[in-house]
Order: sequence, then C-alpha cells, then structure tokens
Amino acid sequence: MKSSLIVWIKVFIHIAALYFTGLIFWDYLNDQLTANPIEEITKRTGKYALILLVLTLSCTPVKILFGFNQIIKARRQIGLYSFFFATLHFFTFLGLDYSFDFDLILKDVIKKRFVIAGFSAYLILILLAATSFNNARRKLGRQWYNLHALIYPVASIVVLHFAWLVKSGVLEPLLYGTLISLLLILKLSLLKK
Ligand code: HEM
Repeated sequence: MKSSLIVWIKVFIHIAALYFTGLIFWDYLNDQLTANPIEEITKRTGKYALILLVLTLSCTPVKILFGFNQIIKARRQIGLYSFFFATLHFFTFLGLDYSFDFDLILKDVIKKRFVIAGFSAYLILILLAATSFNNARRKLGRQWYNLHALIYPVASIVVLHFAWLVKSGVLEPLLYGTLISLLLILKLSLLKK
C-alpha cells in the first residue's frame, strides 16, 4: 500500500512542478503577469524554490513520525525541483532583469546583501544537486550526510535573502524561518530517541 502511495506522490510532484512551470509560461504569453512581469516571474520562481526546500526538510520528520520510510524516495526529487526553480529564478534575474549585463550586475547589485545571500544559497544548492545521485552518495559515504546537512543553512540563508528584500513587513519570511527552525528541532529530537 505504502509503496504504491509513494509512486502516486512522485507522479503528483512531477505534475505539480510541470503545472506551475507551464502556468508561468502561459501567463507570460497571455500578458497575465501583472504590470511588472519580470518581477512576478522572479517572485513566483523564488517562492516555489523555497516551498520545495521546506518540503524537502519535512521528509525526515514525516518518515520518523509516521513510519513512512518510502517518503525518502521522493526527497531527492523534491530537492531537485527546488534547484530547478532556483535556477529559473537566478536566470530570470540574470537574463530577463539584467540582460546578462555583467558590468551592470557587478556595479549595481553584487554588493547588495540580499544578492550575496541568494547567490551563496544557490552555489550550495548546485553542490547538493550535483551530489544528489547514487554514485556520488556511494563515493562520499558518511561525508554525504554531512554535506547534505547543508540544506538547513541553505534554507536559513534563503529566508535571510527574502527578509532583506521585502519592502514592508517581514511576516512571511519570519513564518518560513520559524517553520524551518521547527523542522530542524523536530528532526534533531526525533533522531536522538
Ligand atoms: C542566485 C542568486 C539569487 C538572486 C540574484 C536572487 C534575486 C532575487 C530578487 C531580485 C528577488 C526580488 C523579486 C522582487 O520582489 O522583485 C528575489 C526574491 C526571492 N527569492 Fe531570490 N535570488 C537568488 C537566489 C534565490 C534562491 C536560491 C532562492 C530559493 C531557493 C530564492 C528565493 C527567493 C524568494 C522566496 C523570494 C521572495 C519572493 C516573494 O517576494 O514572494 N532566491 N530573489
């Protein structure tokens, strides 16, 4: 029963990711992305990447609390979709917002703390995505778990990135920050038992 459930969960994740990616393209082609389409694409892709990061972090607590070991099979898939949306987010910023004008980026935005935070998080995500496959896991052995524990600092840096760029009210980033802290505390206390 649980093994067929995980298949459905994985299919659902593929369909949801495809749907939300397709929706961005659809809304773009049909002029439905607000008066500032580039900002809207940046916001949507950033938000999807963060939500998927939080879902990735939820897998271990779900596994331990509900004895649903199979959920770990979906963890890599969810993490890779987070990386996928973070990549769309990064290239929207580089390509659509700044037309790959690296001089302007270096002069204008590279020093902004939210950009430094976003870029650091993205670099670590590249490392995690590149080592998420079975052969890297085998080669790295125990080190793999230490490396992939970086997902918690990444999520925290993304929350900082979000908090530093919102113009008014940090309630939403604060909620994500609280959720991520709770998931970490839950994981640590469940693993101790
Ligand atoms: C690669 C470096 C990154 C750059 C240059 C960057 C740039 C930006 C910019 C310019 C915005 C503001 C959009 C706007 O309000 O106009 C933004 C928002 C955001 N970014 Fe990033 N970002 C980066 C990495 C990331 C990563 C890795 C994540 C998540 C995994 C992320 C998640 C978010 C979130 C959640 C928002 C807020 C969305 C909202 O306002 O609803 N960013 N980013």
